[in-house]
Amino acid sequence: AEDGDPNILTLPPWTTSLGQPVAARPYGLPSQYEKGLQRRESPGLTRMSQVSVAFTPLQGLFGIITPSGLHFERHHQGWSDIDPSKHRLMVHGTDDGFVKQPKVYTVDDILRLPPVSRMHFIECGANTGMEWGNVAVPTVQYSHGMLSCSEFTGVPLRLILEDCGIDWKKAKYVLAEGADGSSMTRTIPIELVQSDEVLVAYGQNGEMLRPENGYPLRLVVPGVQGVSWVKWLRRIEVGDKPWATKDEAIHYIDLMPDGQHRQYTSTQECKSVITTPSGGQILLDKGFYNISGLAWSGRGKVKQVDVSTDGGINWRRARIEGPVNSKCLTRFNIDWVWDGKPAILQSRAMDETGYVQPSYGQLRAVRGTKSIYHNNAIQSWKVAESGEVSNVQVL
Ligand code: MTE
Repeated sequence: AEDGDPNILTLPPWTTSLGQPVAARPYGLPSQYEKGLQRRESPGLTRMSQVSVAFTPLQGLFGIITPSGLHFERHHQGWSDIDPSKHRLMVHGTDDGFVKQPKVYTVDDILRLPPVSRMHFIECGANTGMEWGNVAVPTVQYSHGMLSCSEFTGVPLRLILEDCGIDWKKAKYVLAEGADGSSMTRTIPIELVQSDEVLVAYGQNGEMLRPENGYPLRLVVPGVQGVSWVKWLRRIEVGDKPWATKDEAIHYIDLMPDGQHRQYTSTQECKSVITTPSGGQILLDKGFYNISGLAWSGRGKVKQVDVSTDGGINWRRARIEGPVNSKCLTRFNIDWVWDGKPAILQSRAMDETGYVQPSYGQLRAVRGTKSIYHNNAIQSWKVAESGEVSNVQVL
């Protein structure tokens, strides 16, 4: 350092020569120095990678939008890159009374209809599912990374159903079915469709959906657990009773402490998590840190986020960064001066309905410890004197 910083004193090649030409990479890629930021599969979580999850690296993202290449993936039977010219969306009723004119749409037909673009989070109901009984995974990528947020573009399902002459008085539910081998099928209540929130989407962050995320068509069901966001959408059926398909009668139901199963718990309740500092990271020295995280609610907008650095004894109001959209990720930040002593970092979100994210003690009192789905408890990260950050649970 006495001789001066060579990174300033010696001119590097990028200052003394021509750089790369335009369109050297017709579709851009991140810097080679950002290779560590990747979707990751949890080792040993499932027997096959076709029936598995790859988690979003929340610890390395800024703002609220998930880059499409880092959007989490959850497949029941693997993904395919479907030829859009061969893909069809069929819309019909359980019997003749539900829609006047059943129709088959091509992707081009859907692209001709008037679109809307909206930012929403998608969270798998199983997000944080490994942590019901105890700490199970080391990082926020594995504990909360079945969560992503995009700007989706598509056609309100209401419009398509009206195009088929739906009888709104008779219709109570729709069934959505995917074109993959898992025949993913989910019942959606008609009120969600009538509210205009449910989209038949083809766009994600300004371009067509990625194959992993449902190209060329997927259902977007804001606020509802990810499983209902049927990918590779090929069929919509209109009826008046829930279908109780395998994906809603056997899977995606919550085991309660008395051994009973709770069914059709679809809404993702208000939740938040600190993404930096978070498990697996190391604080280099005492001093100033920006604590940053994400908050979201399936019931609307995030209203407030409080942060504790002493395991929940004292709370301070975090700064919420705009835009604050309904059923969308919301970024929060707060200043923190670390004194070098052990600390426990937590965030607690409240949504516009007044619902407050529960502690593990509160959640377990109602839900027990044996469930998989809908764990929205307050997450705790312990900062050791060494600066190492680890996953802990505080009741
Ligand atoms: N749709 C189909 N057709 N097949 C699937 O396996 N997985 C569901 C849902 N839609 C699935 C599907 C589940 S469980 C989730 S959490 C979301 O898609 C995940 O969406 P993503 O892979 O785009 O993150």
